[in-house]
Amino acid sequence: MSQAPWVRIAEAAAHVGTDVVLKGWLANRRGSGKVQFLHLRDGSGFMQCVMGVADVDEATFERAKHLGAEAAVIVEGPLKADERAPYCKMELTVKKLTVVSESHEYPIQKKGKGGGDEHDPGFLMDHRHLWMRDRRQWLILRVRATIIKAIRDYLDDHGFLLVDSPIFTGNACEGTTTLFSTDWFDGSKAYLSQSGQLYQEATALAFGKSYCFGPTFRAEKSKTRRHLNEFWMVEPEAAFMDVYQDMDLAEDFLCYLVQTSLKKHKAELLEILPTNAEEKAWMEQHVALLEGVQKPFPRISYDEAVKQIEAIRAEQKDEEHKKLLDIHWGMDFGSPHETELTKRYDKPIMVHGFPAAVKAFYMKKDPNRPEVALGFDVLAPEGYGEIVGGGQREDNLELLNKEIARHELNPESFLWYLDLRKWGSCPHAGFGLGVERTVAWICGLHHVRETIPFARTLERLWP
Ligand code: 4AD
Ligand code: MG
Repeated sequence: MSQAPWVRIAEAAAHVGTDVVLKGWLANRRGSGKVQFLHLRDGSGFMQCVMGVADVDEATFERAKHLGAEAAVIVEGPLKADERAPYCKMELTVKKLTVVSESHEYPIQKKGKGGGDEHDPGFLMDHRHLWMRDRRQWLILRVRATIIKAIRDYLDDHGFLLVDSPIFTGNACEGTTTLFSTDWFDGSKAYLSQSGQLYQEATALAFGKSYCFGPTFRAEKSKTRRHLNEFWMVEPEAAFMDVYQDMDLAEDFLCYLVQTSLKKHKAELLEILPTNAEEKAWMEQHVALLEGVQKPFPRISYDEAVKQIEAIRAEQKDEEHKKLLDIHWGMDFGSPHETELTKRYDKPIMVHGFPAAVKAFYMKKDPNRPEVALGFDVLAPEGYGEIVGGGQREDNLELLNKEIARHELNPESFLWYLDLRKWGSCPHAGFGLGVERTVAWICGLHHVRETIPFARTLERLWP
């Protein structure tokens, strides 16, 4: 019986100089008739395991030579530190190999030195259940987990209580055009939550400061690199907070998320994500920009942002693009507007004072300028666009009723919400941060589909 302990690669450093057992899968293999380099992944990390022809019996060496990608294996042998070893600066000499399961013709082929996949995104997304084993995907989903933990840590440590909002709701929050509906038992319609905000307004009045964090559903038929039909949103809400304090909170929160991600993953972002020299150079610049994500963020009024977009538009030579950048006061920003505007900044920017007409029914209006809403968006730099939307809520019953009517919403389904304005109404505000867009920005990814384990989009319910 083997005496060596089973360790995970992430915790292996403490065992250097001793014999250990690793259990995992063959990520890659190369070698010759004399030595086999088995690149093992065990879920917690990657390690090169070296098997010399003299380290094992002939049959074992032959077996190793024919192992396919993703074979499940157990290896045992001495672990040594080696500065030059790939992945983790440690290497295991394989003295014993157990093949738990063979694997032949793994569909995802790794070509290229950096392990960059040569398959098209559709193929990879169709094989998402396997693709997530890829080292880049593995890193992205680990950064996602870090960001999720940082979100919880920040809010828990700042006096916000986690109070979950429901997923099934009886009313719309963010407009009626993007609702997924299903039949409820009494013959009425139930909708999948577009936002937990309205419930957070109730919980904020009960707990002072609260947040919800969960999946959010939008039946948007957008095929952009920023839209998912199921995404994760965190929504803090606080009583007696105004829009300006809300912006301060969003700013501090975002700095924490970015800096916590860097603290844990900076080296991996620089090393694992780029697949060629050009991407490596871009990533170095990107990480430097992330390091500069510190307070304060530029705050730009919508009026000013429109002026800036007009100026950018005037500089455009390409007529098509110029058309996409059409803007006048009163219009909401589209992706091209956000992209161009944020390209001018190295930090996230906070755009506030949008026209009330393009914003949701619950937004409070500026008492000095009723055509303007006391809301804001945070736009990430480098063209990433909106990652946070929030603002102060209308706390006046009469004005809220008017807005519900103007948006042609059914007042009956908002009776409970209106109660919040009858008993104990007070200024309150909050925001929603989309996890996938935040992960895409921090990891420098082109598309949000890689930031969630199993993406749900217009054309994808598989796997
Ligand atoms: O701006 P949104 O629609 O705001 C709300 O839902 C508010 N009720 C939040 C609040 O104040 N409590 O959405 C907030 C964020 C966006 O900034 C974006 O990051 C993300 O949610 N988001 C999406 N992410 C991926 N795919 C989509 N289709 C998204 N729609 C919004
Ligand atoms: Mg928004």
